[in-house]
Formats: sequence, structure tokens, C-alpha cells
Amino acid sequence: MIDENLRAEIIKYYNLKFPQKKFEPGISSVLVTGKVFDENEMLKMVEAVLDGWWTEGHFSDEFERKLAHWLGINFVALTNSGSSANLLAVTALTSKKLGDKRLKAGDEVITVAAGFPSTVNPIIQNNLIPVFVDVELGTYNASVDEIKKAISPKTRAIMIAHTLGNPFDLEQIKKLCIDHNLWLIEDNCDALGSLYNGKKTGTFGHIATCSFYPAHHITMGEGGAVFTNDATLNSIVRSVRDWGRDCYCKTGADNTCGMRFGWQLGDLPYGYDHKYIYSEMGYNLKITEMQAALAVAQFDKLDGFVEKRRANFNKLFEGLKKYEEYFILPMWQTQAEPSWFGFLLTVREGAPFERNDIIQYLLSQNIHTRYLFAGNLTKQPYFVDNDINYKISGELKNTDLIMDNTFWIGVFPGLNDEMVEYTISCFDKFLEVYKK
Ligand SMILES: Cc1ncc(COP(=O)(O)O)c(C=O)c1O
Repeated sequence: MIDENLRAEIIKYYNLKFPQKKFEPGISSVLVTGKVFDENEMLKMVEAVLDGWWTEGHFSDEFERKLAHWLGINFVALTNSGSSANLLAVTALTSKKLGDKRLKAGDEVITVAAGFPSTVNPIIQNNLIPVFVDVELGTYNASVDEIKKAISPKTRAIMIAHTLGNPFDLEQIKKLCIDHNLWLIEDNCDALGSLYNGKKTGTFGHIATCSFYPAHHITMGEGGAVFTNDATLNSIVRSVRDWGRDCYCKTGADNTCGMRFGWQLGDLPYGYDHKYIYSEMGYNLKITEMQAALAVAQFDKLDGFVEKRRANFNKLFEGLKKYEEYFILPMWQTQAEPSWFGFLLTVREGAPFERNDIIQYLLSQNIHTRYLFAGNLTKQPYFVDNDINYKISGELKNTDLIMDNTFWIGVFPGLNDEMVEYTISCFDKFLEVYKK
């Protein structure tokens, strides 16, 4: 435990190392993302170090329990990244434990190319076929009409992200999944805290994922999670995450099942130690207690972070809506209350400037920007250079436009009102010359 002296030392260190800095327009950077923390994160992590346990333990349990309650979901399984969470979610659906419902090699999974690679890579890794559909401009989410057209007798799942925190059409897509008997995997990595009809995203699909990389709503340094209401899926995810083992003892525990030497599984001899029986093809994708301790401290700030993201987004929207003739502004469904990851803008075709002109200008004013991740994933070198088995349904017209014309700016809680107002004033300056 941390005594008062050590506590005071850590707080002193924090204040010296991370002093509050005054924002100086043009000199200080206006970033797109970043971790926001105070001395409490340091205190919790030091506590985890001094505990001497280090692998999954009481901090992991506490964070899983708190996050599950906050989301309104039965099970949260922590893992070492959002990419691992996506791998676990898809791999779990291929398990023999699911009988006829399991995904098999050659099954088709509908997804989008305008997004992050590790939403799609687990589909390929599991010998399934990604079928790419186009997205809508403004929401940047999969078009429901395009999904409908892409459904074939081989379609078994839909796996898509809530783009930059903007919930996709959960009403219609969930209905499609029910009508066609499809698995729904929500990549909720960029959307922690988003609501749809008042319910948190990540709780609608059969299985959902989350990332705690520093850019995300809360961080563990590196980390992720898989959410589900289904006890069978939860136990498969945990097994694949923990080397594929059949045994479900917590780290450091023995004989939770009460018959450690009493199982007859596979072709192993009767009584083979349950600790070393593997019923899934697994890995070790667990987290450490230091990561979980960080998450516990961040969790206390989560509601405030979501509120600040929304406030920054709204301020930007108010300040930039006058430029609709040049940019496609963000759009969202009336049922949605996004917990925004960023503020997306698409330079309209026919605008008197190009994307590069505006982002270079912003950068010259120390305002940072990002593209919508991979743009069109099928045009990335690893897709072009490899023999990847995929399909495109219809045309990826908007996806290509996004690759060419879209960028986003930050809304993260590290941005204060002054920074947001400065950003708007830089758009004003850039666009002044084009005023008629
Ligand atoms: C939509 C989406 N899915 C998955 C990931 C992967 O998360 P991680 O970086 O934790 O592996 C990201 C990363 O930012 C993402 O934006």
C-alpha cells in the first residue's frame, strides 16, 4: 500500500513533470487525440507495482465489473488491445462450441473498407471472406441499402465500427441480422459512451469490442475489451485469450472446477491436469495489473470525458456550419447521441481548394489533423500486394471520396474552449479569401 509520504512524493513528481501549460495560439499544438490524466493514474499504477502481483488480479476484476455495470452488459473480458479484442470476437465465433452457428472458412462477413485495418484483419485471419460495402458521406457508416444488396446465402455476419463514435443504424442493421440469422459484431473501439435510443453502443451486437489505446476515450496505455451478454461467447473469448485453455481458474487459482484431475477430454488420458487441457486454438492476449490500475483511475473520469467530447464537438459544429458549401459536415441519426472520437470533414467536390491545402494550412497554425484511417482499405499496399480473398459489393464510390477528400480534427478532453475557438478562427482565416 502507498503510505502518506510516498503519496506526497508521487503527487510532487506529477506536478513537476506534468505542469499545467498555458495555451499559446500558434505555438502550442492543438492535437487530435491524447491521454488525459492526473496524479491519480500514477498513484494507482504505483500501487499495482508495489502489490507485486502484476498479472491479471484485483484491479482487472474491479475494472471489468465497473465497466460492465456502466455499459449495462453481462460480461467484459479485458485484453491487450482493441485489435486483439477484434481478433478474439471473430475467432470466438468460429468455435466448435457454437455447433452449426459457428463461422466456417469461406463464410462471408459484411464490412466496410473506409475504416481501421484491424476491424477487417481478423475476418481474413480466420479464413472468412470480407465483403466490402460503401459508406454514407456525413455519417461515414455503412449504408443499410448497400448491406441489404450484399447479403448472399453465404453471408453469416456483419462486423462494422461506429465510425469515430457515430453509431451506425443499429435499428435497421440489427433487424437485418435477426431476419437473415447473422452474427452482429460491433467494433466499439472509437465509441465508448455513445448512445442509441438511450442505450450504450457495444451492447446491441452478439459481441462488441473496445480499445484503450491512448487516443481512445479512456486509456490503459495499451488495452482493449470484448463485451457480450452471452455466457458461452464470454467463456470462449476468455479461453482463446488465455492460451485456449479449458480450465477457467483465475490467475494464481487452482481447481475452481473441483475436478482438476477428473476430466476426460479430446484423446487425452483420463485425469489429465485440467490446467493443461486446451479446447480452443488460443494465444496469450491478457493484460497486466498495471494496465488495469490505470484503467480504474481513468474510469472515474469517463463520464466527464464523454461530456467534454460532446461539448467540443458541438462548439466546432456551431463554428463551422457556416462553411457547409465547402465541407460535408458530420451527420448522425436522431436516435444517436454520439460520444465523438473526432470531427470529420469532407472537402466537397468543386470546392475552390483541396484537402491538402486546408490541412497544410492548419498544420502551419499548429492544428493537427488525421485521415479517416485507411481511407479505402482495399487500396492499401498489404491488400494490393497479397493474395487476399475479398469481395466488393457494388461500388466503393464514397469510400474513394473519403480516401481523397476527408480528414478530421480533435474533440478529445485535452482540448479546452480556447483551443477549439482558435481552431475555428483558423478555418475563418483560411476561408476568408474564398468569400464571394
Ligand atoms: C475502429 C477501430 N478498431 C480497432 C482499433 C484497434 O485498437 P488498438 O489500437 O487498441 O489495437 C482502432 C484503433 O484505433 C480503431 O479505431
